[in-house]
Amino acid sequence: MMQNSKSIPSLEFDWSFLDSQVVGKEHGVDQSELGKYLSEAEQAWHKIIESRDKCQLAFWNILQSDSVIKEVRGIKEIILRKNWESVLLLGIGGSALGATAIFKALRHPFHNLVYTPRFFVMDNIDPVTFGALLDMINWESTLVIVISKSGTTAETMSQFLIVKERIKKAIGINAIKDHIIVITDPSKGILRSIAGAMDIPSCTVPPLLGGRFSVLSSVGLVPALCVGVDIEALWQGAVMVADTIDRLDFMDNPVIKTSLYQFVFDREKKKPIHVYWAYADGLYYFADWLRQLIAESLGKIKPDGSFVGITPVKALGVTDQHSQLQLYREGPNDKVIIFLGVKHWNCDVKIPQPEEGESALEYLGGHTLGELCHAEQYATACALAEAGRPNMTVWFPALDPFTLGQAFFIFELQTAFMGFLYGINPFDQPGVELSKMMTYGLMGRKGFEEYAAMVRNFARWKR
Ligand code: PA5
Repeated sequence: MMQNSKSIPSLEFDWSFLDSQVVGKEHGVDQSELGKYLSEAEQAWHKIIESRDKCQLAFWNILQSDSVIKEVRGIKEIILRKNWESVLLLGIGGSALGATAIFKALRHPFHNLVYTPRFFVMDNIDPVTFGALLDMINWESTLVIVISKSGTTAETMSQFLIVKERIKKAIGINAIKDHIIVITDPSKGILRSIAGAMDIPSCTVPPLLGGRFSVLSSVGLVPALCVGVDIEALWQGAVMVADTIDRLDFMDNPVIKTSLYQFVFDREKKKPIHVYWAYADGLYYFADWLRQLIAESLGKIKPDGSFVGITPVKALGVTDQHSQLQLYREGPNDKVIIFLGVKHWNCDVKIPQPEEGESALEYLGGHTLGELCHAEQYATACALAEAGRPNMTVWFPALDPFTLGQAFFIFELQTAFMGFLYGINPFDQPGVELSKMMTYGLMGRKGFEEYAAMVRNFARWKR
């Protein structure tokens, strides 16, 4: 990305293996096919810029002032007041995936075995896992970050009630405000009221900022700060792109170009499955974050009753070459592969020269694991292209906070832009509501009896 900027390390996009000249006319896309949707793309981009300028594009607007980063800096003192042994994040979906992506990309791969504070993200309510965590946590030396934009989510609120009681029992009611930080809407939701009533320190999630677009707010930055990530660099990476991206020529804008390709593959080439194939362990959870961002933002019913959305899939290189590649190369040609690669490894490991009797392994000796990883990534891209399977690569120059900040913003922007291109609202998620209501009904929440009845009606069909 932004190849014109030499002094600042930036993401690079390589679209060459999407082209019909490489993967064939039937499965590739040529410039004229992209051109067909140019006017729709121009309208969608216009809507993006207009929304930003009207302060209706929260994930971009938060980068245009320093209020978010200032608020996070403000909470630093509370976080650093003690040498915490553990930091526990309670949250789900957009309130957890960004923090996990940052932690996995930027901290030591075995952080919890080597460093403190250990970091635990509880984004599920499996009682076995949660119970096991409760058994091993020392509340005296644990900081809990409770994140819920709505401040009402049943999963997070149940975890909160459990943890609050455990802290109270272990170290007393007065300790709650010293061991919990709440991140939620500035005024709405029960979590905000409880934080106020109990004097629990808190950060805000800007009202217009949805969970899956919130990684660059306190939702991602506070947990990142707790585990020692350079949040200033992360923030600056995002701001750098936010400040410059609309100055690029239309088709030089990697967000627009990548979106157009993905849109055309979905619409015209019968390829609705888009695989984000991370070729670095540190990027696997970035792919996980992206999977939610795309799925929840783009999978929608349009007002005319038609369905839209690409199905995002995540894969890990090189591991999934021994699991998914057979399917991707010879199974149904219904996919586009987007490789996420890292150019410079933060550390590399040399493969020694084989000893006597090991000559079959000579080709490996003297190389590094990083070289082998790159060779396998490129070989996989070529092998897919050879079989007429379109693929592209997004290169991270290195896995560092500045680059990751850029990547978060770029993919948020791309998702919002694609939403406008599809003609849907990328910022809502009406499809998740009914099961929530039914759960309330089943759990006996007042006012949700009709949903419990709906579930019972379905239960009739069970054999
Ligand atoms: O992206 C979203 O809006 C969702 O995935 C939410 O983040 C998720 O449902 C959790 O919601 P909340 O942060 O309100 O607890």
